[in-house]
Amino acid sequence: MTTKSKKFYVTTPIYYVNDVPHVGTAYCIVCSDIIARWHRLLGDDVFFLTGLDENSVKTYKAAKKFGKETRADIQKYTDQMAKKWQEVWKKLKIEYDGFIRTSEPRHKKVVLQFFNKVSKKGDIYKGKYKGLYCEGCEAFITEKELVNGLCPFHKKKPVKLEEENYFFNLKKYRNRILKYIEKNKNFIRPESKRKEVISFLKSGLKNISISRPDYGWGINLPSDKNQVFWVWFDALLNYISGSRDWPADLHIIGKDILRFHAVIWPAMLFSAEYKMPREIFAHGFLTVNGQKISKSLGNAISPSYLVEKYCADSVRYYFCRNFVFGEDGDFSEKVLVERNNNELANKFGNLVSRVTGLAEKIGLEKTENKLIKKLKLEKIEKNFESYKFDKALNEIFAFIDICNEYVQKNKLWESHDKKRLYELVDSIKAITILLWPVIPSASEKIAKNLGFEINLKNLKKSLNIRKVKKSEILFKKIKYKNI
Ligand code: MSP
Repeated sequence: MTTKSKKFYVTTPIYYVNDVPHVGTAYCIVCSDIIARWHRLLGDDVFFLTGLDENSVKTYKAAKKFGKETRADIQKYTDQMAKKWQEVWKKLKIEYDGFIRTSEPRHKKVVLQFFNKVSKKGDIYKGKYKGLYCEGCEAFITEKELVNGLCPFHKKKPVKLEEENYFFNLKKYRNRILKYIEKNKNFIRPESKRKEVISFLKSGLKNISISRPDYGWGINLPSDKNQVFWVWFDALLNYISGSRDWPADLHIIGKDILRFHAVIWPAMLFSAEYKMPREIFAHGFLTVNGQKISKSLGNAISPSYLVEKYCADSVRYYFCRNFVFGEDGDFSEKVLVERNNNELANKFGNLVSRVTGLAEKIGLEKTENKLIKKLKLEKIEKNFESYKFDKALNEIFAFIDICNEYVQKNKLWESHDKKRLYELVDSIKAITILLWPVIPSASEKIAKNLGFEINLKNLKKSLNIRKVKKSEILFKKIKYKNI
């Protein structure tokens, strides 16, 4: 009898199509990819969804700059941009199972169906919105939220709006959401973010507009063709339109978009009577030299540039070894290079090349692998489970150090001890499997060379191998030039 594998559905936010990826946006998807790969290692039936947020005023304005104003032209513009995003994700070895673009007909269908359910519930009414709108956030914003008259996230002055649109009765769901969050302790993580949402909910809620007057792009309301859906009402639904099976197990998001996901999204789902996602995890923000990443500051480092200069594995490794997932961090190319050289090349790369080189010359003799008892597997698994990538990697690298010392201590280049070499090759197999979510390219090369498949079951099975070929160089050492 075959046992059915556990489903695991994880999402990233969908990215605004008018921009291009930078290290901050790449950070979010790389960490999500690592989580998805970890679950694949566990043997789960993973569905990893990402995509693009296309139905916004930002898109319309960006396309207009290129002289594209008709719907067909704007669509062409987003098609071109979508290719760029997908190319970058490919370079970073992001292995998604679903890619949803909100300009697709399958998405529109879900938005209309969902809206009908919410309308039937009596949660939509026509009204007048008079207030502020931040085009950076694509959100209605209050005076109270401004800092020195500017949106705290985009440092931009919001625009004043006075327009008719349709409202969603968000207030109606306040108590229900509050109770849900209080009862389900893991619904919003980290804990600091859960607390933040609870106190926001306790301070009261206002109903929200879910449509804007038609500006020539976006999805029209079925009941009023002069209006289009407000981008967030539309975008959040990607998690359903792009899914294979609702609900999601995990929404990974940045901290700036927590309220949309932890307040508006649950209210929408309650209203339309859909199940809640299991968990929402908000990660921190990356800065560059302490400054917010922005086009105008010219510090929006492109992930393609980094991958071409270094490699995808180094960038991915740096992201999750260097930062605590859930906290803010400062991106530094210099530190990326140092970690590549000291940890990936000198420690791991060296171990693999030394051990496989010796094994090629001397050969192996199968024996019980006592060395592997020093690998703190349970701790590593727990850390991956709770997204503590930095801690998981610390443990894996502590074991890499132990392996390197083992080569030295036993003077394997002199002793020609085939059994000790076997222990080391078998330990490299375990390390390689555990590192695969983070550095898939190097791990796959090692697995191919040593002839094993990457999954957690194989980690505990001892290798049946006698001959080994010396591994190619896995990580090049890089000289850091301050540019
Ligand atoms: N389109 C919305 C999300 C809709 S989801 C239904 C959006 N897009 S975005 O392109 O602006 O941002 C996408 C993700 O990248 C967000 O989670 C955001 O927090 C994250 N990041 C953007 N800049 C970032 C950093 N500097 N650092 C870390 N994450 C960053 O918001």
